[in-house]
Amino acid sequence: MAETSEKSLYARLGGYDAIAAVVDDLLPRLRADQRLGRFWSSPRSIVANQHERQMAVDFISASAGGPTFYLGRDMKTAHAGMGITAEDYAAFQRHLRDALGKFNVPQREADELIAFVSSLEAQIVEN
Ligand code: HEM
Repeated sequence: MAETSEKSLYARLGGYDAIAAVVDDLLPRLRADQRLGRFWSSPRSIVANQHERQMAVDFISASAGGPTFYLGRDMKTAHAGMGITAEDYAAFQRHLRDALGKFNVPQREADELIAFVSSLEAQIVEN
């Protein structure tokens, strides 16, 4: 993710806890979405959900320039076979924007995170 000031996006977003709060707001929105719910429709263990949440926090934090190591899979591998469509991806982005809005993340930082997520679309969308 491009650095556009002396401070990383990670720092400008408010650091680890602020990013974790956005992820904790975002994931239930995705699961509750009529279109996206199918990706989480089979019974999942608590640890699987916790792992997914931790991976999301670590990935975003590390990508935003934070002092976090992301130990998960690359985005193409992590989502391969799910059949995520461009419409699914647009729905994801709407929920992300809503979650950022809920925490009053400033426009510039919100736009940078949305742009970063947009840059991943080609790796995640399959059809
Ligand atoms: C419509 C879009 C998306 C859908 C439906 C989706 C769905 C999922 C699901 C169901 C998993 C869990 C797989 C499992 O437990 O085996 C997962 C993992 C993950 N996703 Fe997504 N995802 C989407 C977009 C994104 C985006 C934009 C990011 C990054 C900002 C992301 C980051 C991750 C990470 C870091 C993991 C964990 C990978 C690992 O465990 O190695 N996802 N995703």
